[in-house]
Amino acid sequence: MKLTVLVDNHTYIDRYYLGEPAVSYLIEDGARVILLDVGYSDVFIENAARMGIDLNRVTDIVLSHGHNDHTGGLSAFFARFSQRVRLFAHPNALLSKRAEGLDIGCPLSLEELREHADVRLVTKPFALSEHVTILGEIPRVYTFEADRAVGETQSACGCCWETDELADDTSLTLTLPEGVFVVTGCAHAGVCNTVAYAKQITGEVRVTGVLGGFHLFEEGDALTQTIRTLSQLDVERVYPAHCTSLAVKSRLFTAMETYEVGVGMTLEWQE
Ligand SMILES: [Fe+2]
Ligand SMILES: [Fe+2]
Repeated sequence: MKLTVLVDNHTYIDRYYLGEPAVSYLIEDGARVILLDVGYSDVFIENAARMGIDLNRVTDIVLSHGHNDHTGGLSAFFARFSQRVRLFAHPNALLSKRAEGLDIGCPLSLEELREHADVRLVTKPFALSEHVTILGEIPRVYTFEADRAVGETQSACGCCWETDELADDTSLTLTLPEGVFVVTGCAHAGVCNTVAYAKQITGEVRVTGVLGGFHLFEEGDALTQTIRTLSQLDVERVYPAHCTSLAVKSRLFTAMETYEVGVGMTLEWQE
């Protein structure tokens, strides 16, 4: 099983890939080739081409949530690739979203997505492949991870706007012989809530790693509790990316085994 970072805010020195403040990870598990998010633009397609990765092989697209730095590349994908993929998203991921006067939601409607993909709206855990599971809606249990709303979302009735608690936010688990590896998009649900639920769903005790956006920016008491809880949850190493500030990465780096994420990074596991 292999994970490749196709898009992140950060790019490594001496490797000439493109960065953008967005997320796209490619996860290959046997015959299934899974894209977790598609970035903000067509940059993930350009980076894959530069890496020699053929996205015609993609079988599944998972939207971690509806924000356009995770869904913005959908039109470019469907314009370039014609295979009929399975597309997984929480129903709320396809509702309109806005913040500070800007449209920040998924650019394609459910009807438009269905023209190109076999759309599966999921709120519960679902096994995508032998080792990869989408968590669905993540229970919010830790009080220090409350109050993480971003902008507003269209209500289910479609007639008004309400504070967006990002119920659509989800993550993937990779089940390895040595434990579970968690891959987040933005972790709007809270990285500790996400890891706790990943352990509950998989029954795994060890968490070999957590990679992705942690949606953490501020130093303070909540961060102290986050780091303490990650340790209590037996997280062995972290790969903070995308929406994780330098200050937070620095605190993580001094507290636990922490790795730098950039476009072109690969992780490979023996199954
Ligand atoms: Fe987001
Ligand atoms: Fe994001």
